[in-house]
Amino acid sequence: MSKKAVVTPWEIKGDIDYEKLAKEFGVEPLKELPKVFNDNVLFRRKVVYAHRDIGRIMNAIKDKQPYVMMTGLMPSGKFHIGHMVLAQQIIFHQKMGAKLYIAVADIESYNTRGQSLEESKKIATEEYITNYIALGLKPKNCEIYFQSNRSQDAKKANAFYRLQNILAKHATFNEFRAVYGEITPGKMISSLLQASDMLHAQLPEFEGPIPVVVPVGIDQDPHLRLARDITKRFKTYKFTQLSSTYHKFMPGLGGGKMSSSEPTSYIALTDTPEEAERKIKKYAFSGGQPTLEEHRKKGGNPDIDVSFQYLANYFEPDDKKIKKIYNDYKSGQLLTGELKQILIKKLQQFLKEHQKNREKAKKLVNKFLNH
Ligand code: TRP
Repeated sequence: MSKKAVVTPWEIKGDIDYEKLAKEFGVEPLKELPKVFNDNVLFRRKVVYAHRDIGRIMNAIKDKQPYVMMTGLMPSGKFHIGHMVLAQQIIFHQKMGAKLYIAVADIESYNTRGQSLEESKKIATEEYITNYIALGLKPKNCEIYFQSNRSQDAKKANAFYRLQNILAKHATFNEFRAVYGEITPGKMISSLLQASDMLHAQLPEFEGPIPVVVPVGIDQDPHLRLARDITKRFKTYKFTQLSSTYHKFMPGLGGGKMSSSEPTSYIALTDTPEEAERKIKKYAFSGGQPTLEEHRKKGGNPDIDVSFQYLANYFEPDDKKIKKIYNDYKSGQLLTGELKQILIKKLQQFLKEHQKNREKAKKLVNKFLNH
């Protein structure tokens, strides 16, 4: 049975129709992509599927001009394979030559979830940043900061603080209501703060006017709409309009969204290979038929099979191999148990390698902080 979807920056549930959502929000589908993008599985397989003004970023990459990749994270619970979607994009832009700005949204977590700043700091460093580094993030041209503590450099910190407070003049209450539905003072502050996260790289104390791309989950588009509208009205300083890209969410093991508040929905990057195997076998939603005979006769449905989605979107980059898995499953030649086994093997390899990298990464965290 399909459940009605709710997608706002602070709540995601139900069965999401991504194309419909893109239309509703007014974002463009990502169609023709340059080779450098297509070489990346997330773009090629349309996990990153929509955008606003991405042309400006593609031109910067093509012409070897500087640009900034700015994004943020809400630190909560375990870092799981769903979080990898954004991590991989951050690393992609670093390889493309972008300067990276990454905000730890500790103030947003405090104001919208009541999570203490200390707790956010601990989760952000031990879970998020450590895993980003283990996945390949490099310290060069990369600033990770906390919303509650932008910079050691007073000039930069003050510039951020100033911007954050004067953006309020350029937004209206009705706009907040239209953009967010139910609105609280904490949410209002969070969205204006996020607007300054996204815009401040262009201040003279930072990079000056420069193209900025913000890769986010599609749920975050309301924040971009607000920030882009403010940008148009803001006359104090001329910002280059923001670009953004939107990704789909990695499905949870049982379908729905993968969520750190629900351990049976995720594979954490710190799960042991045995734990990962157990979870896939027990919880991964199958598109197969109830009996072997039926499966052989009617075939399975890879489009709703969670193990297949994990392979297609992340763990089997080889186009020929994934096509064969798709066809074999659909024809009934490949059984659910066999499909799960293909995923388990890939996933275990990845986790083993990643967990070794994590040990090295732990020692490097400080290189990414304290700007
Ligand atoms: N609101 C974002 C989230 O829930 C986190 C965030 C804060 C962010 N500042 C940002 C995302 C700036 C993109 C750009 O995950």
